[in-house]
Amino acid sequence: MKPIKVGLLGLGTVGTGVVRIVEGHQPDLQSQVGSPIVIEKVLVQNKSKVRSVSIHPDKLTEDAWDIIHNPDIDVIVEVMGGIETTKSYILEALARGKHVVTANKDLMALHGPEILAAAQENGCDVYYEASVAGGIPIIRTLVEGFSSDRITKIMGIVNGTTNYILTKMSQEGAAYSDVLKEAQELGYAESDPTSDVEGLDAARKMTILATLGFRANVALEDVDVKGISSISREEILYAKRLGYEVKLLGIAERQDDYISVSVQPTMVKATHPIASVNGVFNAVYVYGEAVGETMFYGAGAGELPTATSVVADLVAVVKNLKLGVNGKQEKLAYKEKKLKTDEQ
Ligand code: NAP
Ligand code: HSE
Repeated sequence: MKPIKVGLLGLGTVGTGVVRIVEGHQPDLQSQVGSPIVIEKVLVQNKSKVRSVSIHPDKLTEDAWDIIHNPDIDVIVEVMGGIETTKSYILEALARGKHVVTANKDLMALHGPEILAAAQENGCDVYYEASVAGGIPIIRTLVEGFSSDRITKIMGIVNGTTNYILTKMSQEGAAYSDVLKEAQELGYAESDPTSDVEGLDAARKMTILATLGFRANVALEDVDVKGISSISREEILYAKRLGYEVKLLGIAERQDDYISVSVQPTMVKATHPIASVNGVFNAVYVYGEAVGETMFYGAGAGELPTATSVVADLVAVVKNLKLGVNGKQEKLAYKEKKLKTDEQ
């Protein structure tokens, strides 16, 4: 059985989880895809950093092209974050016939259409389940589970860091800056947590959900955004006394041809199910004309929950590869051969 070779871009919170799951669940993964899945090379910024997973030093590289131009690598898993450089890596990987799994909502919200078009042109898959709501398989649910329905509303808590902060401020009267620091230490926050606390991370996720759920082109600049950084502990505790919890809610609605998407701190009645979504947990409510109300709940950030979604995407990509969906296997073999010939 020829192993499937993976190039991992990034070995931080999510990358570490990916290595742990690929290694720890190898027999289960192998029984589903029929081949070993091997992490062949890992891109990091600093090879000498101490890591919390053991990885052979020869596998680490600081040069992305060692991975992207490596003809042995079948699939790229991008968990390094960032936008422009990362986009150039992904486009180059796709041009070389490599399939891509990414957790990068910043990239997909801003450049999703271009990346997906490049994937289609090259007969490749791009999967991005982990980009929204961490361990909740909400993208697969919207795209596949509700393919038969017409969704009119998607609403929820899609940022773990802010929900963690708001929960601790409400339940323990904790100070905003202390809890933000904790969320960073736990690996929930973005490398620049401004995007979490100012609502941009949630806006990017809502852009992705609205685009997929409503099968429309929703642009990030059309989302109304307000974050939680100016909310005081006193305001949260006052809302609580009135019977409300403050939650950062993303709301996407469509009426006829009109779509509106917003992210804002909202007073939610304490008896509403969304009010009891606490800590790093996320919840996404979806209303479809035929199915009616549905709701999905789970960890929205963190190492293993997020890596679960990444590795599930990896399994899906490998299954497609094995089945030769859209003749991808043949295209891949042809492309690698052509690139080798061109390079000679
Ligand atoms: P992280 O802990 O900061 O890790 C980033 C990793 O990428 C590090 O290993 C870093 O190398 C490497 N890296 C970053 N920039 C690089 C560059 N220019 N060249 C080479 N290596 C580079 O980030 P993370 O929390 O795992 O998040 C990764 C991605 O997943 C982001 O897109 C994020 O939005 C998304 N995501 C995160 C979560 C979460 O809970 N954390 C959940 C869902 C999605 P060094 O280790 O050498 O510094
Ligand atoms: N910073 C993000 C959050 C990570 O807190 O939700 C998961 O996308």
